[in-house]
Amino acid sequence: MDILHVVGARPNFMKAAPVLRALSGDPDVRQTLVHTGQHYDQAMSEVFFRQLEIPPPDLNLGVGSGTHTEQQTKVSLALDPVLRDRRPDLVLVYGDVNSTVAAALASSKLGIRVGHVEAGLRSRDLTMPEEVNRILTDQVSDLLFTPSEDAGENLLNENIDPAKIHFVGNVMIDTLVRLLPRAEKHLPKDLPSPYVLVTLHRPSNVDDLPWMRALLSTLTELSRMATILFPVHPRTHRSILHVDRTNGSQSRLRLLEPLPYLEFLGLQRHAALVITDSGGIQEETTFLGVPCLTVRENTERPITIQQGTNQLVGRDVNRLAQAATAILENRWNFPRTRTPALWDGHASTRIARIVSMRAETKKEEVA
Ligand code: UD1
Repeated sequence: MDILHVVGARPNFMKAAPVLRALSGDPDVRQTLVHTGQHYDQAMSEVFFRQLEIPPPDLNLGVGSGTHTEQQTKVSLALDPVLRDRRPDLVLVYGDVNSTVAAALASSKLGIRVGHVEAGLRSRDLTMPEEVNRILTDQVSDLLFTPSEDAGENLLNENIDPAKIHFVGNVMIDTLVRLLPRAEKHLPKDLPSPYVLVTLHRPSNVDDLPWMRALLSTLTELSRMATILFPVHPRTHRSILHVDRTNGSQSRLRLLEPLPYLEFLGLQRHAALVITDSGGIQEETTFLGVPCLTVRENTERPITIQQGTNQLVGRDVNRLAQAATAILENRWNFPRTRTPALWDGHASTRIARIVSMRAETKKEEVA
């Protein structure tokens, strides 16, 4: 069985790594890894391949940045001849980035089966490009691997055939479980205490300059209570250059380069609080039991709210400041969390088992 994995952007890498690893043990499976090149900076891509021990991609499509349509079209155009030439039995796509939907549509148009890892998540906010990507990818997928029970319900509500849906758990947590001991060794020697870890990169936050200015000023205020460590995504960097930062010399707001996986995971593990707009980080903090405030109006990961580790603060700096202060002053009634079902480090083994069963069936058919 020939499997072609398509990855493109930073959050894809920690999801694909354990699946590639789990399938590498099956002698009936041949794997090809395609990197679309959506993320191309060393700090956004290559360092993740190294730390996550992902083999170098067999092919890099080099699509780079651009508008959504440009990015998607470039992925489809570059992938189409590869798919025609190799005719894989299955294309595996990950998460919800532009590369995911482009690869899923290109494969499906050629009648090639698609497996979507992290299927079924929904924010119900179609203004988020990722929501459009999730819905379209799921509609054309033949194997839908879901990370949580709510994801399966969402798919059933969209009339997706239940036989296609496989509740396997969270592959990103597989990577976290495997690498957490190593991440502890990547902590900086001069770690401040306490500290707040911040990541912001959604266009709705960072491309809106007045709002970005308000957020930075709130973070500067919060830095009176704790050091703020803020690794800055390239998109965010552009905005910060445009806003008049209120980060005076007394401020403990530290803007950092984007961090590699192990360094970032170590910092998450020991943070007093994480402030983010990322989807994956809402899940990682839930697993780690670290309080998280999400600067968004909605989330496709409602399980993190139900667990009580994550709170949406929307577009309201007062809510953000109040919630952060309550956490830093130990006034947040932090729940004793139970890890969500199947977030156990073995989601990729379940995926490999399902895919291998298909390979077995194919062998019997050929025989
Ligand atoms: C993409 C995903 C988002 C994911 C995020 C993680 C989509 C629609 N969005 O957003 O879901 O959470 O990745 O980072 O697919 N840039 C660089 N170097 C790089 C990559 C990007 O400088 O290696 C800059 C470019 O100026 C680019 C901008 O960042 O225009 C945005 O990159 P892009 O891939 O379009 O989207 P992200 O914001 O990273």
